[in-house]
Amino acid sequence: MKTPVDIAVTGAAGQISYSLLFRLAAGDLLGPDQPIVLRLLEITPALEVLKGVVMELHDCAFPLLHKVVITDDPKVAFDNVDYAFLIGAKPRRHGMLRSDLLSENAEIFIVQGRALNEAASRNVKVLVTGNPANTNAYLAISQAPDLAPECFAAMTMLDHTRAVSQLAQKCGVLTKDIKNITVWGNHSCMQYPDLHHARVKGQEALSLVEHDWFVNEFLPTVQHRGTEVIKTRGQSSAGSAANAVIKHMSTWINGTDDGDWVSMAVPSDGSYGIEPGLVFSFPVTVTNGQYNIVKGLDLNEFSLERLRQNQAELIEERQMVRHLL
Ligand code: NAD
Ligand code: LMR
Repeated sequence: MKTPVDIAVTGAAGQISYSLLFRLAAGDLLGPDQPIVLRLLEITPALEVLKGVVMELHDCAFPLLHKVVITDDPKVAFDNVDYAFLIGAKPRRHGMLRSDLLSENAEIFIVQGRALNEAASRNVKVLVTGNPANTNAYLAISQAPDLAPECFAAMTMLDHTRAVSQLAQKCGVLTKDIKNITVWGNHSCMQYPDLHHARVKGQEALSLVEHDWFVNEFLPTVQHRGTEVIKTRGQSSAGSAANAVIKHMSTWINGTDDGDWVSMAVPSDGSYGIEPGLVFSFPVTVTNGQYNIVKGLDLNEFSLERLRQNQAELIEERQMVRHLL
């Protein structure tokens, strides 16, 4: 029997977690022979609801779920954890931009960055999902000087899977036939889902779809999908977000498929002219549990302009939280 692995989830009584926790306990992340301990963080007023979720987790009698800890203290939640899912944060409502959440959510990631720095395993993998995810991750990294910045990432995997799905539907193929899509930049409406290197069953995607569809349908559909889900469902995406959380972390653990990459928002190393340290979504491959930004892709002026716009937006968000640093 393997030693249980500790996994922290914040916002554990929220709607994304209501989908995520059951998948983690079923073995969807670490496989069918890896026992886990769930360390669940909530704000004090939500602990009662969280107790109800934990009752349901126990009622499933998951063989891999060895223990569940619930707490309102981030240091208890992050104690020696190998994986931390930072989900707890306010979601936006109809009519809001994700950056409108900065004033309400930024403080959470300052506190949790410090707690991770003190308590987590030195090899922890931290995935920030709470919005605005890139700048929240930037804040957490700024408070965790004893952890390598490469321990952190923000989630643009949902944008990535949205882009894959739109292209597959357009071309009438399965999603597994799509490779090398990139979502660049910020998890905001400015994000740049890029098809210039994408392949459909090995063929260049842009030779199979009209340029007008790429610019005037595909781009805005992926960029505004989160907004459309809120408008249609009345709440922000949750099941698809939980799925993207699992896909991001399992790729980070197990590696990317040969010849393919995924999109992850990670601290820039200056690639593609993006200011070092900004948490920016790049194409990445993963080997031995480490992500590597794919270098040397040819970008035309259309793409470069969109990268610059994303960088400018992230610098503006950083400016809005400067006083907290
Ligand atoms: P939700 O409101 O259902 O749940 C959030 C939970 O976080 C609540 O239970 C709340 O009590 C808890 N919380 C608040 N402050 C906390 C703190 N300091 N510590 C621990 N828990 C805290 O929201 P949701 O739908 O689960 O979404 C969570 C976040 O994820 C939102 O910010 C949302 O915008 C974001 N999101 C991001 C993506 C992405 O692709 N990056 C996708 C979907 C949602
Ligand atoms: C999403 O992309 O669905 C999430 O970031 C939620 C939102 O606010 O759009």
